Amino acid sequence: TYVVTDACIRCKYMDCVEVCPVDCFYEGENMLVINPSECIDCGVCEPECPAEAILPDTENGLEKWLELNTTFSAQWPNITTKGEAPADADAYKGEEGKFEKYFS
Ligand code: SF4
Ligand code: F3S
Repeated sequence: TYVVTDACIRCKYMDCVEVCPVDCFYEGENMLVINPSECIDCGVCEPECPAEAILPDTENGLEKWLELNTTFSAQWPNITTKGEAPADADAYKGEEGKFEKYFS
C-alpha cells in the first residue's frame, strides 16, 4: 500500500484525490490519509503530490504512518473530489516535524 505522511499536514493540496482509481483517500482537518485495505498499489498518486507526502509503505520507518493511515481512514470521511488547498499551504511545504506541531 501507499501511505500519506506528515509532509501533507497543512499543505493538503488534494491532487492525489483526483487520480486515485479506487477513491481510497479520507479527509481530516489538516491532512488526508489512504485506506491501506482499499489501496491497490497503483502508485499514480505518488508523483502527483506537490509536497511529496505519499510514499510506498515498503520504505523504511513508515510503520507509524501505516498505523495512522489505517486508524484515521476508518474514522474520517471519504474524499473523492479535489477541494481548495489552505491559502497558506505553501508556507508549510517541506517543514520538518509537522506531526508534532500541528496534527489534529
Ligand atoms: Fe489510490 Fe493508487 Fe495512490 Fe493507492 S497508490 S492511494 S490506489 S492512487
Ligand atoms: Fe496531501 Fe499531497 Fe494529497 S499534500 S492532500 S497527499 S496531494
